[in-house]
Amino acid sequence: MNSLRTLNKYFYKYKYLLILGMIFVISSNIFALFLPQLIRIGIEQIQVYLPFTYNFKGLGISSLYIDWVILLLAVISALIVITTLIRGALMFAMRQTLIVMSRHIEYDQKNELYNHYQNLTSSFFKRNSTGDMMSRISEDVSRVRMYVGPSIMYVSSFITTFVLVIYSMLVINPYLTFWTLIPLPLLVYSIYTLSRIVNVKSEKIQKILSDLTTSAQEAYSGIRIVKGYARDEQIQQEFEELAADYRVKSLSLARMESFFRPLMLFLIGTSTLLAIYIGGLEVAKGRFTAGNIAEFVVYINMLTWPVYSLGYVVSLVQRAAASQKRIDEFLKIHPDIVSGKRYKIDTIESIRFENVTLTYEDTGITALKDVSFEIKQGEKVAIVGKTGSGKSTICELLIRNYDPTSGKIFINGHPLDEIESISFRAMYGYVPQEVFLFSDSVKNNIRFGRPTASDEEVIYYAKAASVHEDIESLPRKYDTIVGERGVMLSGGQKQRISIARALIKDPSALVFDDCLSAVDAKTEHHILSNFEKEWKNRTVISITHRLFTVRDFDKILVFEGGRLVEQGKHQDLYDKGAHYFDLYQLQIHEEVE
Ligand SMILES: Nc1ncnc2c1ncn2[C@@H]1O[C@H](COP(=O)(O)OP(=O)(O)OP(=O)(O)O)[C@@H](O)[C@H]1O
Ligand SMILES: [Mg+2]
Repeated sequence: MNSLRTLNKYFYKYKYLLILGMIFVISSNIFALFLPQLIRIGIEQIQVYLPFTYNFKGLGISSLYIDWVILLLAVISALIVITTLIRGALMFAMRQTLIVMSRHIEYDQKNELYNHYQNLTSSFFKRNSTGDMMSRISEDVSRVRMYVGPSIMYVSSFITTFVLVIYSMLVINPYLTFWTLIPLPLLVYSIYTLSRIVNVKSEKIQKILSDLTTSAQEAYSGIRIVKGYARDEQIQQEFEELAADYRVKSLSLARMESFFRPLMLFLIGTSTLLAIYIGGLEVAKGRFTAGNIAEFVVYINMLTWPVYSLGYVVSLVQRAAASQKRIDEFLKIHPDIVSGKRYKIDTIESIRFENVTLTYEDTGITALKDVSFEIKQGEKVAIVGKTGSGKSTICELLIRNYDPTSGKIFINGHPLDEIESISFRAMYGYVPQEVFLFSDSVKNNIRFGRPTASDEEVIYYAKAASVHEDIESLPRKYDTIVGERGVMLSGGQKQRISIARALIKDPSALVFDDCLSAVDAKTEHHILSNFEKEWKNRTVISITHRLFTVRDFDKILVFEGGRLVEQGKHQDLYDKGAHYFDLYQLQIHEEVE
């Protein structure tokens, strides 16, 4: 439960709402106490005056007494209505303060988590699944809200009801109080045990449900593979098994839950019975009035709901504690890369790698070994090499998703870790190997690179990325919505839209990570040769597997197993007859032009 202490700062922030809420809780419970007392007074009055009406029958006075009793009862009823209305208003105010407070806290906590996510580095996002992060920010936060709202409301109301009701009972008759409360501990215990079982069961069901959803979701998003491999039946069978399991567990939960009410009614019934029986004996002894019995019965009923909700509240609190613990675990993770402060840059004049080695911590793979090179403004540089040779890792380092394990990177002569991250990231037009499009229109996806760009500019850069004609042939052209994975588009179209997004940023340096792989060779050549004209003083770093498209580049860096084995111009490298030559020979047969 310690983890819930983290929330104290929020309670402090919303202390006025909390205090006000508590005042409403207590006052609404005080008003609830009027009901049994008014009922007792009513019954007592009837008891007192009714005999008169019989005794004086036929004397003409009886109707006077009857009128008097009716008047008294009318007044008492009116008082019951008024106190109940006031109580209702107070309960409304209690919800308005405490539940509203919990919504405020939920909002603050969501924002805190979201901001924290924003500051974390890509290694964090690789370690934790999207689903995990989503459930922290939605499910866990809402469970914590259930604690700060309903739980606090119920618990405080529960305690005040308990204290007030038991005190009132004791004042009237301790002996009867003792007897009627005997079943109560049993009730609390059994409800608590039952709700624990129910909780365990429902957690399991929750888990199966999420498996079920994941299984369905995977089957749908991978439907082409499923069908293509003719695995429909097997997948369906797996789903059916999960669903059957879900049904069995849900039924067993429902059976458990069906015990709740009867058990509670039984124990409360026992209490009521005891109140009436022992109360009756007390009345006979003259220590008690019939009105007192009615009052007691109402008191017992007032205790029912708090006891009933106890198990539920306990489980809410336990869940909230577990959720808060998970949230705290996330909040405790510090970004392993903190933006530098010393320098700000507004253009990239040079990029220099000095003996850079990078070992990925989680896999222990050394992706780059002792790499040194320099890129000057306006240079067109190609990075080539076999798959897994460390090309993408260069990009990760350039935008500082990772810091080198040893060695240093400089931009404009400043160490990368002393430059404000935002300032140099803004200088890059980076197109990653795995393109990503937002669920938005094509236009907005391109404009993401520079939100202020006009429609004409969007079209201009779409043309530069050779994707304008493709977009024009879409049903709603630039307004076509592309799904989360850009479902309606081909791989090459997605890649070129991402390129347009990078170009429209008008960046100092373009970094293309194999982002023309799904484009035919001719189009790739067309796009790259555009750079010669349009992007003369822009630096271009292009990772590619098609060597002949970068023959005219100023510099080619050849990687092998994480080492930079060769660098230079196409002709020089080719003439050397070593690594580059071998790569080139392998590809020569594929050349299409
Ligand atoms: N985030 C990561 N965490 C751990 N290891 C990684 C990570 N990214 C890459 N690696 C490993 O580093 C090595 C180099 O990977 P990299 O992605 O840089 O290769 P690449 O040259 O871009 O390959 P490809 O041409 O297939 O894209 C690989 O062995 C890969 O498994
Ligand atoms: Mg790569």
